[in-house]
Amino acid sequence: MYDSNITLSREKRIASMLSEFQLEFIEDEIPVEEEISLLVQESRLSLIDPGLDKRAQVHIDFTGGATDHRRRFGGGKSQTLAKAVGLDQKKGLSVVDATAGLAADSFVMACLGANVLMLERSPVLALMISEGLCSAAQLAEDSDHELSNIIGRMQFLHVDATDWLTKQKNDSLDIVYLDPMFPERKKKAAVKKEMQLLQSLLEPSLEQEPLRETEERNLLEQAIRTSYHRAVVKRPRHAPTLGGEKPGYSLEGKSTRFDIYPKRTIG
Ligand SMILES: C[S@@+](CC[C@H](N)C(=O)[O-])C[C@H]1O[C@@H](n2cnc3c(N)ncnc32)[C@H](O)[C@@H]1O
Repeated sequence: MYDSNITLSREKRIASMLSEFQLEFIEDEIPVEEEISLLVQESRLSLIDPGLDKRAQVHIDFTGGATDHRRRFGGGKSQTLAKAVGLDQKKGLSVVDATAGLAADSFVMACLGANVLMLERSPVLALMISEGLCSAAQLAEDSDHELSNIIGRMQFLHVDATDWLTKQKNDSLDIVYLDPMFPERKKKAAVKKEMQLLQSLLEPSLEQEPLRETEERNLLEQAIRTSYHRAVVKRPRHAPTLGGEKPGYSLEGKSTRFDIYPKRTIG
């Protein structure tokens, strides 16, 4: 769905991304209840579920809001994420964020000096990430040199991460970062509305659970095999380890835990 006030060049760019990611644009369609839609607004793309609370919208916006706030006041290298990945020790590390999602963690890592390659398999999120990067690059070009450099360190591929990693050589990537899961369904009542929206877009049905476990094991196996320094897995704080694989050590944040599978020291 398009809002008014969209420039022709942006409309064209989004149309070409829709075809790249094999998504369909339904002109003048009134959003159907329970049907998740993408709303193209003047300043951003929003994922909405007309059946849910109107405030339950999901955006990727590298130029404002929570992302910008974290860039300015997030705590830099003292953040648990920085320590988990090793960005407190070395600035120019290359990180493959194999489950990019809303690219929030990728953006933080790029802010901390990492060169980040984002992988994401969902076509809807692929479109949101690509458009988020294009909009931010355009906006920052003349007015925000620092943001322009951060966006310049972020690259994106619309692929399945296990497939892509399988094609990479042993020890060929500095760091491989995984955050494959939104928090457990059981806690649904407590999960924020935005989370529900993403869960209904991305999470497999319960019958697919056994397949998901095998997928997660394969993904972690590939992340460990291809990383040079370490593979890092972000988990909800009390969740079991990914694929039941014991990490070398863990770092705990407020609600999350980072499981680290170390191979070689950084420095
Ligand atoms: C919890 S979200 C990641 C959130 C992200 N860390 C952030 O900061 O926004 C998990 C994402 O991983 C993606 N994903 C899971 N398995 C994947 C795979 N094998 N290949 C590519 N993407 C995958 C899902 O589509 C989802 O968007």
